[in-house]
Amino acid sequence: MISIRNLSKYYTIHHKKVLALKHINLDVKPKEIYGIIGRSGAGKSTLIRCVNMLERPSEGNILIEGHCVTEMNSAQLREARRQMGMIFQHFNLLQSRNVIENIALPLELAGVSSDKIKTRVDDLLALTELGNHAKQYPSQLSGGQKQRVAIARALAYSPKVLLCDEATSSLDPQSTMSILELLSSINHELGITMLLISHEMDVVKTICHRVGVIHQGEIIEQRSVVELFTDPHTQVAKDLVKASSRMEIPRIIKELLQSTADNNTGTLIRIAYHGESASQPIIGYLIQQYRIDINILQGNIETIQDEIVGVLIVEIKGDKANIEKSIHFLERNGLHVEILGYVQRNH
Ligand SMILES: Nc1ncnc2c1ncn2[C@@H]1O[C@H](COP(=O)(O)OP(=O)(O)OP(=O)(O)O)[C@@H](O)[C@H]1O
Ligand SMILES: [Mg+2]
Repeated sequence: MISIRNLSKYYTIHHKKVLALKHINLDVKPKEIYGIIGRSGAGKSTLIRCVNMLERPSEGNILIEGHCVTEMNSAQLREARRQMGMIFQHFNLLQSRNVIENIALPLELAGVSSDKIKTRVDDLLALTELGNHAKQYPSQLSGGQKQRVAIARALAYSPKVLLCDEATSSLDPQSTMSILELLSSINHELGITMLLISHEMDVVKTICHRVGVIHQGEIIEQRSVVELFTDPHTQVAKDLVKASSRMEIPRIIKELLQSTADNNTGTLIRIAYHGESASQPIIGYLIQQYRIDINILQGNIETIQDEIVGVLIVEIKGDKANIEKSIHFLERNGLHVEILGYVQRNH
């Protein structure tokens, strides 16, 4: 649906080239919600703005349903842009227009008849549950309601793609959840493909199917959300996952941690699992089979994309060979294990 090929973008600041995107390759499938996650300044907005040519790429191509937007003339580009709605962090509504007039704007600009506009706007008010606010002005609406207006406006021309740039970053947690639910149902019911960017793992985790991690203008990891969450490869992804699952090693344990094992140490490991492995009593089996002690220090179990995903930080104590066997057993059964260090206890 969206194919990004070898996309680079540089800005010229004081006669110097600043590379904002470096050789990005990415494919978003039809009806997929694809998330781009990265820290501030990583290049997320630049990337999404290149997709609808608000920014012109310096190199590379963007294809929407096989049509190359970088090679279009202005009439073709106008038509292609109608197929791509966009929503922003700060909503970008016209303050002088009420809700109905904001939603109608793209249809007016496209010369759609007023009868048709009215029918379409009524449908969109119903879809976004804004019926009771139809005559209000943006200054009279909450952040969540403003974003609903922006979503309705972005959908006015029935686009195939919705681009979301930090759509929930200005909202409180409750409004964030309700906007993410709305986006999810739009994807599900209308089959609209979405490219969504965020700096928050929680947002990506809630609605995206796949995710790309962007760092200093490069996509450094591309996975399904569940895979990224259970087995992040890069340090940036590890940090994002850690912040989201609130799985810090407890401070009192951190102080006892060393990098090598000896007779008195317990082995501190992070275990992550999903799908099949979540339904098996693996920890109980380990204790019985390998005669080890397991002390669970942190745990987070949740459902992501209808799959149970668990992350545990545990300390294992026992015979060294048995600890190694248990770790191999976990890995053989599809769990991800990372040794975090060895806990030195003086008693
Ligand atoms: N118009 C511009 N002119 C010059 N440099 C720019 C411009 N827009 C972005 N940049 C630079 O490009 C890099 C990427 O910026 P971008 O806005 O894409 O990051 P971002 O990931 O969206 O960040 P944030 O999470 O803070 O929104 C940054 O180093 C930024 O300073
Ligand atoms: Mg941005």
